[in-house]
Amino acid sequence: MTDPKQALRDALSAIGQQFAAEVTSQPLEPGRDYLPPSGKVVGVEEFTALLQASADMWLTAGHYADTFEKEFPKFWGLKRSLLVNSGSSANLVALSALTSPKLGSRALKPGDEFITPACGFPTTVAPAIQFGLKPIFIDVDAETHNPSAEAIEAAITPRTRLVMAAHALGNPFRADEVARICAERDIWLIEDCCDALGATINGTHVGNFGSFATCSFYPAHHMTMGEGGAVLTNTDQLHRAALSIRDWGRDCWCAPGVSNSCNKRFCWKLGELPEGYDHKYIYSHLGYNLKATDFQAALGLEQLKKLPSFIEKRRANHRNLAAKLTERNLDAEFILPKETPQTEASWFGFFLLYRDGSNQRRHRTIEFLESRKVGTRLLFGGNLTKQPAFKGREFSVSGSLTHTDTIMNNGFWVGIWPGLEDRHLTYIADTLLEASRL
Ligand SMILES: Cc1ncc(COP(=O)(O)O)c(C=O)c1O
Repeated sequence: MTDPKQALRDALSAIGQQFAAEVTSQPLEPGRDYLPPSGKVVGVEEFTALLQASADMWLTAGHYADTFEKEFPKFWGLKRSLLVNSGSSANLVALSALTSPKLGSRALKPGDEFITPACGFPTTVAPAIQFGLKPIFIDVDAETHNPSAEAIEAAITPRTRLVMAAHALGNPFRADEVARICAERDIWLIEDCCDALGATINGTHVGNFGSFATCSFYPAHHMTMGEGGAVLTNTDQLHRAALSIRDWGRDCWCAPGVSNSCNKRFCWKLGELPEGYDHKYIYSHLGYNLKATDFQAALGLEQLKKLPSFIEKRRANHRNLAAKLTERNLDAEFILPKETPQTEASWFGFFLLYRDGSNQRRHRTIEFLESRKVGTRLLFGGNLTKQPAFKGREFSVSGSLTHTDTIMNNGFWVGIWPGLEDRHLTYIADTLLEASRL
């Protein structure tokens, strides 16, 4: 007799196939359809995977999440990964894990300093500030949008304990050099790889140089789960601390629905709790619940299979758009993005920085582009120190933030995500040319 669960799965697969066209990302018509700066590319495989996961009615993290956590680090050449509910949560977990008392004197303490670029995304820096670390902001380069290893080194003081930086718009900062500088001084490094999945430095994936790599699966990113993120590390001790932080702060590492992974569930004596207190309810950290579900992981596993082709398409689109802009002499008007030497970017977007711009000029251009259905974005928070959230907060700046301010005032980016084809890029380049004549 057929297994009823299998029959349900087969029926759901058939539904996916029947409605394949409806659930697959549709091609966009330049001029008629809005060309978003980023987007997801999903097909019948993702839809079917979601249906299959629902057939289990497991609802929380289960075997799909488990499989994803095993498969995902292989892509990076790393050992361990934890699935979380967003890239911001990934940053929160990674930072919090470095405050673990289990790290002894190496644990981050309130009042320690951390170095981070002022130009970037707020949740790369928010967890450290929330914990009481003091940010030292540094400038970035106008062509790579990343801080140099020299700028990071120059900002180090005797109180510096952490460097936390994102690989800007998929272009790596020299995490290899920064890791060496940090190792000499016992400083932690967290690589925010949310926008840079697949980027490499001298052939090694970003995320391999710091103690943690973090990643986002929001639909704008290289692969998606809807909402989602991951924390990766090569160090078992850090993985265990991150797991605890993600899962309520508990000492126990049993997966949902599992008991007694340690084989001594009722034999522990920790803190001032009575002997044999159930390990499931012993908390060694002040944690959160930042877990994702099997639905997200099922989607992620399908996207993971397509990831290499997504990355290639992003690179090809970036090259193609750069060539189209140069053909139209727009490189005279804009500083075009440059890959950091000895790295290969995995581009998130195409950043355009006016050589002689102003906020008004940029404003006119992006309004024109949007009116012609070309989506635009800014380089996230621009200069983070100017954001309302930073008013009244304690921070320092090392050197000047000249390029950061220029990027805040004169730059914007357009899409090169895998849903865009040559004709879309031609339309974007032509519309930029029109904008240059305004
Ligand atoms: C560099 C960087 N870090 C972190 C995040 C946060 O990711 P999420 O939106 O999944 O929370 C983003 C979001 O785009 C990002 O660009």
